[in-house]
Amino acid sequence: MMGGVNIISMEKNMKNTISTLAATALLASSAAVSAAEVEVLHWWTSGGEAASVNYLKEKLSGAGVGWTDFAVAGGGGENAMTVLKSRAISGNPPTAAQIKGPSIQEWGDLGFLADIDGVAQANDWDNLLPAVVSDVMKHNGKYVAAPVNVHRVNWMWSNPEVYAYAGATIPTTWDDFMVQAKKLQNAGFIALAHGGQPWQDATVFEAVVLGVGGADYYNKAFVDLDMDALDSATTLKVFETFGNLRQFVDANSPGRDWNVATSMVIEGKAGSQIMGDWAKGEFKVAGKSVGTDYVCTAAPGTSGAHTFNIDSFAFFAQSDAASTEAQNVMAAEILGTDFQTVFNLNKGSIPARLGVSRAEFDTCAHDSMDAFVSASASGSLVPSFAHGMAMSSAVGGAVTDSATNFFNSDQSAADGVAQLVASIKAAM
Ligand code: GAL
Repeated sequence: MMGGVNIISMEKNMKNTISTLAATALLASSAAVSAAEVEVLHWWTSGGEAASVNYLKEKLSGAGVGWTDFAVAGGGGENAMTVLKSRAISGNPPTAAQIKGPSIQEWGDLGFLADIDGVAQANDWDNLLPAVVSDVMKHNGKYVAAPVNVHRVNWMWSNPEVYAYAGATIPTTWDDFMVQAKKLQNAGFIALAHGGQPWQDATVFEAVVLGVGGADYYNKAFVDLDMDALDSATTLKVFETFGNLRQFVDANSPGRDWNVATSMVIEGKAGSQIMGDWAKGEFKVAGKSVGTDYVCTAAPGTSGAHTFNIDSFAFFAQSDAASTEAQNVMAAEILGTDFQTVFNLNKGSIPARLGVSRAEFDTCAHDSMDAFVSASASGSLVPSFAHGMAMSSAVGGAVTDSATNFFNSDQSAADGVAQLVASIKAAM
């Protein structure tokens, strides 16, 4: 299931119970932490992720706000969302939680979220944030979340030495990927570093969808959920291509964490990993240099396109002034240029807000910034469905399940399409 918020949609029928409990939560949450302190739920536990979140903690400490860490390990956030749900329904949500995309609306609809519009207006967020970002942060027209970054998901991270040794070149199309991956394999390398977890399967699937079908198809099929686009020859080709990747993943991939897969590229055991640019944080922590030790290229067939994944912290309603003030400080710090620079240098992403200097960022980040702007103009800026940006949590979960069931079985491409269509219909 997707890491997002199946947790909520799973329980359409629990909605009423949760709504009633929201009132209790308002009272209880303030009791859980002391005055100028925030308890923050997140899933950033890898090396690069931890460096990023530590900077937020430092920033808040500098502003007089204490930090109670509520880290729940598990890439993509599925575990974190499960724990968040149980905390929320027991009337004790954290002060802030890493919640993204349409799931912000789901939590908002349930009555849990605090309005931080005062901070947003005072700091002119409407003008600091691109509309594609600010729209997601608002519920009923008011800001309830603060964006920390924009990740680009359609990246491929490669070890150039491995490619050179194998006499292979870094592929720019999926057809060529199959050819080059064979060369890597013949030279004794693992072609595709992959962790067999549902969200990672979905991340690769999403890259294939975009690379094979293009942005228009991506939007029609996976954002608009147009059944003709979904049940089409293009989707069949997507599954055929995705299925061809099974042979390039090693036998130990099931359950492997994404950052362990990144380390296989870092250590020269594997050629490439398809992963969002949080992977860059791991190269950085390992002291590797872009261009020489590792190379970032768009996932095959997706150059010029940008699959975005915006991380944000949503704020839970508080009943006392001190906690509300601590939240406001956190929200204001997050949008600061200083924070957006250092946090994103560590995280591998780019700033969510405008007006931050590009000077300190590397070539991958510059590519991502340029692609964000050009893809937005050309209509190929697309929301990442594998990371909870495009669909309700229920539909997102159905897509992730279909992708992972297919990838981890010998299901035919035709059956993959049929299962995808049926499971989306059932979840809508
Ligand atoms: C994504 C999240 C990223 C990164 C990744 C792996 O969903 O947006 O910030 O942390 O999961 O954990």
